[in-house]
Amino acid sequence: MGLAPILEVRDLHLRFKGVAALSGVGFTVEPGSFFAIIGPNGAGKTSLLNVLSGLYRPQSGEVRFLGRDLLPLPPPRRTRLGLGRTFQNLELFRGMTVLENVKLGAERAGPYPLLWPRADQEARVRARAEEVLEYLDLAPYRHVPAGLLPYGLQKRVEVARALAGSPRLLLLDEPMAGLAVEERQDLARYLQDARREWGVTLLWVEHDLRAVMELSERVLVLSYGQVLYHGDPEGARRDPRVQDAYLGGGA
Ligand SMILES: Nc1ncnc2c1ncn2[C@@H]1O[C@H](COP(=O)(O)OP(=O)(O)OP(=O)(O)O)[C@@H](O)[C@H]1O
Ligand SMILES: [Mg+2]
Repeated sequence: MGLAPILEVRDLHLRFKGVAALSGVGFTVEPGSFFAIIGPNGAGKTSLLNVLSGLYRPQSGEVRFLGRDLLPLPPPRRTRLGLGRTFQNLELFRGMTVLENVKLGAERAGPYPLLWPRADQEARVRARAEEVLEYLDLAPYRHVPAGLLPYGLQKRVEVARALAGSPRLLLLDEPMAGLAVEERQDLARYLQDARREWGVTLLWVEHDLRAVMELSERVLVLSYGQVLYHGDPEGARRDPRVQDAYLGGGA
């Protein structure tokens, strides 16, 4: 396609005592794509996202994000460069309202120009939060404490909080897990819309193979910390090693 990749990962190695969580993992992500990471339990999917967002430090390897060397940077710098994320287990502030949670996401995308008056910065954060709440049909819940919402809506709020930071690349760890079929379809639509409207590249860890096949343009399959497959979804479906990992591996 000729576009420079938004993310380039080379030869990552991450070990915990006896466990090789990632062994020589490498792949590239095109800007604007819907990119899925799949693999059985314990394959290293969350570990990979943790390396990208800066929670885990790999023993070796290289990550370039928008052409910049990412691994030396602390997590907040990565956020400000445009790397957003949601978590496998919800990490909302349950006692804070939906709007407050989403504003936090917008604030992290700063810093806004130092010379701006405080009130202007606050107005900018609030406007962005309101925009995202409208877009994800969350505006009616803006003053409800996040912890009081049903699970499916909390998941959507977490996505809203991440999108409020205007990420260039959004890492999502199993955003569909625990959702009913209709909620999954809704979330998929919101993600597609965000991609179209704001140009967000989506890097998405998912167990639901059907959703992956429907939505993603590229797929990375991990198993025991190694890349089994990297390519289009149709090829993943036909690949005998991928079939083994899912059917033979008991996952
Ligand atoms: N902080 C940690 N300390 C020790 N071992 C870890 C740590 N994080 C991950 N691991 C190990 O690394 C391997 C990969 O785990 P990871 O959570 O990345 O898998 P996953 O593909 O996200 O699995 P799941 O589908 O269950 O979410 C596992 O063997 C796990 O036990
Ligand atoms: Mg995981």
